[in-house]
Amino acid sequence: MSPARTPDRNLALELVRTTEAAALSAARLVGCGDKEAADQAAVDAMRIVLGSVPMDGIVVIGEGEKDEAPMLFNGEQVGDGNGPQVDIAVDPLEGTTLTAKGMPSAISVIAIAPRGAMFDPGPCVYMEKLAGGSDVADLLDLDVPIGELCGRVAERRGVPIRDVMVVVLDRPRHQEGIEAIRAAGARVRLISDGDVSAALLAVSPLSPVDLLWGVGGTPEGVISAAAIKAIGGGLVGRMWPRDEGERAAALEAGYDLEAQLTHDDLVRGDDCFFSATGVTDGDVLQGVRYLGADVATTESIVMRSRSGTVRRVQATHNRAKLRLIDPERFG
Ligand code: FBP
Repeated sequence: MSPARTPDRNLALELVRTTEAAALSAARLVGCGDKEAADQAAVDAMRIVLGSVPMDGIVVIGEGEKDEAPMLFNGEQVGDGNGPQVDIAVDPLEGTTLTAKGMPSAISVIAIAPRGAMFDPGPCVYMEKLAGGSDVADLLDLDVPIGELCGRVAERRGVPIRDVMVVVLDRPRHQEGIEAIRAAGARVRLISDGDVSAALLAVSPLSPVDLLWGVGGTPEGVISAAAIKAIGGGLVGRMWPRDEGERAAALEAGYDLEAQLTHDDLVRGDDCFFSATGVTDGDVLQGVRYLGADVATTESIVMRSRSGTVRRVQATHNRAKLRLIDPERFG
């Protein structure tokens, strides 16, 4: 790839502007009970800012198909068309229900990588995932029963299994796994939504969570993989077709439904970027704060895998920025 086609380091800071805009916009609808409206607000604001980012981007993973949300649709071209050719995975509002209900840990996220580097999940909306810190990354294996895996993590860390905490989406499909984790002596932190934040928590050595396990969105798996390539840790995922139709479509399209894909399979190469901004307060990021009529603050985390740089960005936004994302209210 020629230098002109290589993502520039400054892209990281351009990207944070896109998740900030989406978060600022979605945050206006926290607690309003309308997840579609919150998602639409995030999409619209992110689109405006994405248009000014110096890149020739194609959305490889857009949010939408699973819950028919408004989307930055797959195949859509974004960026100002002048910079490097990149793939984009985007989730302008990760945690639409969390936002609608005023609950913690909703974030806005985007990941980019050189063109062709991102895994295209095709018809597979869901993926079974396992993520953990770098000291246990080699243990991650979806064929090992989850209770047994918790035991291996405890052994590796030299702690009693009771110390192992697994974050799991609270869904009926996970009931058996949850029981297996508890029966093995480990513990479960249930979350109602938001497994990108949960993956970030699971790979962080400073968090009270050791593993993420369970079936969640494939887009969220690819986005989490981009972050993990920068901050370290491991993730493995396996396509999880919802029904026979999806399974047949995936097989027809040539997907290997038995394969465990690592974060390096989901985002290839060593030059991806990731940005997330908090919408509501969470373990990983503080949410947006509107301070009076003219000012808002955001907290973001932005990373580049090539350098391994991870920045936390606290920003204060004045009326001019707020006008850009919500001209009606701040015009
Ligand atoms: P949305 O923001 O699109 O609502 O997704 C939230 C989420 O909880 C993801 O974090 C997770 O991967 C997925 O939905 C799980 O899907 P489902 O709610 O269908 O079980």
